[in-house]
Amino acid sequence: MAQLSLGNGEPNDATPFLPEQRNLKTLREAAAGCKGCHLWRHATQTVFGEGLKRSTVMFVGEQPGDQEDRQGRPFVGPAGRELDRALEVVGISREDVYITNVVKHFKFEERGRRRIHQTPKRFEIDACRPWLDEELRIVSPEALVLLGATAAKALLGSSFRLTQHRGELLNSDIASIVTATIHPSAILRAADEEARIEQRESFAEDLRVVAQALA
Ligand code: URA
Ligand code: SF4
Repeated sequence: MAQLSLGNGEPNDATPFLPEQRNLKTLREAAAGCKGCHLWRHATQTVFGEGLKRSTVMFVGEQPGDQEDRQGRPFVGPAGRELDRALEVVGISREDVYITNVVKHFKFEERGRRRIHQTPKRFEIDACRPWLDEELRIVSPEALVLLGATAAKALLGSSFRLTQHRGELLNSDIASIVTATIHPSAILRAADEEARIEQRESFAEDLRVVAQALA
């Protein structure tokens, strides 16, 4: 397939970087060298999904954050701790879970010594999509949980409104159980402790829907 380009000479498609033999190990290794879009230039490393092929639940976030970029693992920073906490509350074991992101490199803006997350653009999401499609195909999870509007729109279409449909069991041919909820980083941005507790509880409630659908 011809490599899509943005017209500035920068490629915009991960497809040429996909390995011939595709399993989670070969994909992860190949993704480490992906230069399918411009995002690899500034980030530390590719953050590929993590979890076993036999995982029953797949979580899809937006893109790695600062900690994830440094450690090379998804959801290991503050948002990951919120996710872990909610998983524990509803009794989903992290061992049964495959966790990944729609975009595999951290996109950020430098402000002094801080690296501020930037929402990936549609063309970056499209470029990175082949990795996610392979993860979905190989893991073929029973339940798919989309964390935040970016992941939800990427997989359910740009007209999807998270505010209207969060926590619902959605009809989709991607998996038998599909739902979308807030991104756990929204909990961290809560204005005060009361709001934070409320967000935490409603996030866990959305995951409980999945736990119950699986049971
Ligand atoms: N936010 C995400 O969407 N993904 C991560 O891996 C970490 C934070
Ligand atoms: Fe490749 Fe995705 Fe990284 Fe772009 S963001 S370089 S497509 S892994």
